[in-house]
Amino acid sequence: MGNIYTSKVFINEEMHRAVKEVLDSGIFIFGKKTKEFEQRFAELVGTKYAIAISNGTTAIEVVLLSLGIGKSDEVIVPSHTAFPTIEPILRVGAKPVFVDIDERYYTLDPKLAEAAITPKTKAIIPVHLYGQATDIAPLKALCQKHHLFLIEDCCQAHHALYHGQPVGSFGVAGCFSFYPSKNITVCGEGGMIVTNDPKVERTCHILLHHGQDGTYNHVLLGNNYRLSELHCALGLEQLKQVEYFTRRRREIAALYTQALQDVSGIISFPEEASYARHVYHLYVIRVPAAQRSRIMEELKTEGIFCGIHYPIACHQQKALLTLFPEQPTLPITEKIIHEILTLPIYPLLKDEEVLMICEKLKRIMNNS
Ligand SMILES: Cc1ncc(COP(=O)(O)O)c(C=O)c1O
Repeated sequence: MGNIYTSKVFINEEMHRAVKEVLDSGIFIFGKKTKEFEQRFAELVGTKYAIAISNGTTAIEVVLLSLGIGKSDEVIVPSHTAFPTIEPILRVGAKPVFVDIDERYYTLDPKLAEAAITPKTKAIIPVHLYGQATDIAPLKALCQKHHLFLIEDCCQAHHALYHGQPVGSFGVAGCFSFYPSKNITVCGEGGMIVTNDPKVERTCHILLHHGQDGTYNHVLLGNNYRLSELHCALGLEQLKQVEYFTRRRREIAALYTQALQDVSGIISFPEEASYARHVYHLYVIRVPAAQRSRIMEELKTEGIFCGIHYPIACHQQKALLTLFPEQPTLPITEKIIHEILTLPIYPLLKDEEVLMICEKLKRIMNNS
């Protein structure tokens, strides 16, 4: 068996054909693949609109700009997320206000969010981390009560559900990423904004295309955040596989959880919340902090590459602290970042590979 990495891209014949079709068409921007990818993605999430964009980070940035969020505004977010959730908040000049997570599900704890609201708060960005929906109903109620925007970071949660409804359809907008490791990828950089609000849809379109409302009529200060036709063609073919991707990720997660039950020392396994359909973008266990590096190293020598998502909490990142040095203590986030360990998961991973990883992990942990 060769090396096993945390993720691997699924590629089929249809994807090869789709690339050729675009190359032969001679249309590389805003063609029919882009339109169809947007339409099919909107159908998947159940929103009126979907807007293809250069990546997940720019999706969040453009949504914030479209809502007029900027200087001296505050945005409530979890700190336990990829730093790209935070960058767009800083880019538009707003202040991220960090809230701790629920220890079982690793998503923003709605019980802690209300205390973080100030007169400057404009939005809450829950992150459906690792593929599990945040408990969104209490956050939505909070947003309604305090007149805040709810913006969902769905970059790790394509096809995830909350009480049977797709994530991305609860707030004013949802933002997705199609980076190569994601549950749906465009085999490069890509993103999608979903919304039911025609004004947000229109403004996002204008902003990502140099602020143009019609050719060479620049009405807003935008940027070039377009997604190319080739990437949309690939994303469209991936989207056709989403049922299989989700089913296979869920099977692998169940197999890991079952096969690792009797391994001594594992602190916790991923848990599916009663309200969620987890899509297992990442399969994250927790191990004793003092043993984590050794476990990772020993797995690596066996050709198994694990990850840590994420080793430094966002509220402790230098890029943030230089702008906002005063930060809260977040006990759960600050504890779990030393224990989390991501095992390989992707649809192409075979059952026997999962069992082999479990065997090796068992041996390594039982030897400690
Ligand atoms: C939770 C989260 N938010 C935002 C992003 C940003 O997406 P992208 O890498 O497409 O810019 C990512 C991906 O890295 C992510 O995992």
